[in-house]
Amino acid sequence: MTTIIALTNQKGGVGKTTTSSALAAGLSSFYNKKVLAIDFDPQGSLGFSLGLDIENSSTIYDVLKGNVPIQDAIQTTDYCDIITSNILLSGAELEFTSADRELCLKKALAPVIDHYDFIIIDTPPALNILTVNAYVAADHLIIPMAPEILSLLGLTQLKETIDSVREKLNPSLNVLGLILTKYNRRTLLAKEVKEMAENIAGQIGSCVFHTQIRASVSVAEAPAHGLSVYDHAPRSNPSLDYKEFVKEVMDKITTVSMETK
Ligand SMILES: Nc1ncnc2c1ncn2[C@@H]1O[C@H](COP(=O)(O)OP(=O)(O)O)[C@@H](O)[C@H]1O
Ligand SMILES: [Mg+2]
Repeated sequence: MTTIIALTNQKGGVGKTTTSSALAAGLSSFYNKKVLAIDFDPQGSLGFSLGLDIENSSTIYDVLKGNVPIQDAIQTTDYCDIITSNILLSGAELEFTSADRELCLKKALAPVIDHYDFIIIDTPPALNILTVNAYVAADHLIIPMAPEILSLLGLTQLKETIDSVREKLNPSLNVLGLILTKYNRRTLLAKEVKEMAENIAGQIGSCVFHTQIRASVSVAEAPAHGLSVYDHAPRSNPSLDYKEFVKEVMDKITTVSMETK
């Protein structure tokens, strides 16, 4: 059984890419899982942060356009397999016009899905056709949130998008949880945001991960070295926190799959 997880929040800078990369690397390094990471953001940061060339290689855009078989777009890194993205993907809104335009990613993944234990999809800071494609392909969503009041705005639209995908295209889409990133336990705001996050999570039938990812510059430095946070700064707070988070993800998925059996 392959588990497909999309990281989403239409706000930028909340830790989607960082969490995608830490989750993909963590599942493979700590649990020996076979992982495919898909960069579904035209900004291409996930591929870049794993040290890949995103300008001269086949991308997820080429796959969706039918120009390249998906197998040929998969690149290997020390942590996981990855399909990169680049700015051309931003044309999707205008270019994908077929009646089943929301199903493009799901269909594209079909030939390789059985090769992996996990597929992790990083999404753009938007609620658009790319986001919807990711929601349709996914079993679970994880919503990273930074402890800023502004990062709570717009979660109503996020909920509406999830509801509409559940209604029409993917009834079993589950929100695995909200993960607080860039967290500083000492600030009052952080506590308030945590309570608000719990409230929002409740409204979408989900919860907040127990683990919060503490803020540290080590996270920002790791991509420049093409290393995961665990290898770049093993004893840093985010490295320890992300390890806990990956454990929580594993536990939750086991629980959910037992419940649905
Ligand atoms: N725990 C953290 N501590 C400090 N900086 C972080 C942390 N998580 C992410 N960042 C930084 O915040 C910025 C935005 O993170 P990113 O993962 O790219 O967000 P998104 O993909 O949601 O736009 C990046 O520069 C990243 O290095
Ligand atoms: Mg990103």
